[in-house]
Amino acid sequence: MTEIRKIGIIMNGVTGRMGTNQHLKRSIKAIMDQGGIKVSDDLVIMPDPILTGRNPNKVESLAKEVGVEKWTTDIDAALSDDHNKIFFDASGTLYRAKFVEMGVKAGKAIYCEKPTAVTTAEALRLAKVCEDAGVKNGVVQDKLWLPGLRKFQMIKDQGFFGEILSVRGEFGYWVFTGEHYDQPAQRPSWNYRKGDGGGMIIDMLCHWRYVIDNLFGNVKAVSCLGATHIKKRVDEQGKEYACDTDDSAYSTFELDNGVIAHFNSSWCTRVRRDDLLTMHVDGTEGSAVVTLRNCKVQSHAACPKPIWNPDIDQPIDFFGGWQDVPDFGPYDNAFKIQWEMFLRHVVLDEDFRFTLREGAKGVQLAELGLQSWAERKWLDVPAL
Ligand SMILES: NC(=O)c1ccc[n+]([C@@H]2O[C@H](COP(=O)([O-])OP(=O)(O)OC[C@H]3O[C@@H](n4cnc5c(N)ncnc54)[C@H](O)[C@@H]3O)[C@@H](O)[C@H]2O)c1
Repeated sequence: MTEIRKIGIIMNGVTGRMGTNQHLKRSIKAIMDQGGIKVSDDLVIMPDPILTGRNPNKVESLAKEVGVEKWTTDIDAALSDDHNKIFFDASGTLYRAKFVEMGVKAGKAIYCEKPTAVTTAEALRLAKVCEDAGVKNGVVQDKLWLPGLRKFQMIKDQGFFGEILSVRGEFGYWVFTGEHYDQPAQRPSWNYRKGDGGGMIIDMLCHWRYVIDNLFGNVKAVSCLGATHIKKRVDEQGKEYACDTDDSAYSTFELDNGVIAHFNSSWCTRVRRDDLLTMHVDGTEGSAVVTLRNCKVQSHAACPKPIWNPDIDQPIDFFGGWQDVPDFGPYDNAFKIQWEMFLRHVVLDEDFRFTLREGAKGVQLAELGLQSWAERKWLDVPAL
């Protein structure tokens, strides 16, 4: 008979945007609905979540909405229950340390959202707290499992690019200020206040670190210019507030293999490109435009010959002449894939390299990005 092994997971801060949508609904509940993770004919891993939070009404209504039985505002009680093996945190960045430490103290495996902290020292301290206690630990690095990035990785491994020369990343979209009734802001207001852990550089350079390290090569040096383009926004209560942190970042990274990667990240740009994130990769033998779900390629052989002549309409259709890397089977939600890997790590001891120490590298790049901006200079990225 198949053993269905229930794994208690304390899910903290899941009434928020990421916690509710990506982690609870599209990952844990989706895994439960598919009948768990089938390891073999003899074993199925079944997540058994308990939702924790401060506001009982919010937590209870989320549990009801999603169809999860257990919830509580008594986090200590959840932590002292031996059935719960994993502590997950998707609360605000600035509360991460407190919650991670509570989870470690109770001997739980730790899984949490990025960034783990806003300084490298604190991110490394948290990694060490986990390591010293000997608890398994992981940080969300979801972008790695997006279909577009997986397709890129596949053709890169096949040698499509020859030598990769450069990467140009464009990320962002217009986040409404909340000033106009029918155009409400689509991101929480804390993102635009430094004191609440907000800022584009701390938010996105964490992502760019693991994306670049895994796909293109190790980051060696950074130059970053931040900007607060929009100075005032309106919060969830309809109150105007001052934006005191960067809403855009213009960053260049030098990699140890000579690749140059430049990423623009902005909440103040209106999109006219293939997707909310595009990475244009140029190599000696071919180029690609990587989006969230797709990867468009042009081989050297198919590259047209442009000639500069502004006196005539452009005769070349630059958007033609590219081909999609086809889908190879269904691509699961990126957060869900990483959750399944972490659950297998906890239960089966399978490898999982996306630890809090790896997450600290992202915080390091963000901190150096902020320093580069403040000092207006290139900075080396020391090994952690
Ligand atoms: N992986 C990604 O792509 C990604 C994307 C966006 C945000 N994030 C990260 O996820 C985290 C949450 O972001 P979000 O956009 O969901 O924010 P959010 O504001 O929607 O949610 C924050 C959650 O934290 C809880 N919270 C706030 N203050 C708290 C406190 N004092 N004690 C306990 N809980 C508290 C809130 O109730 C809410 O449940 C942040 O660290 C953010 O950087 C990751």
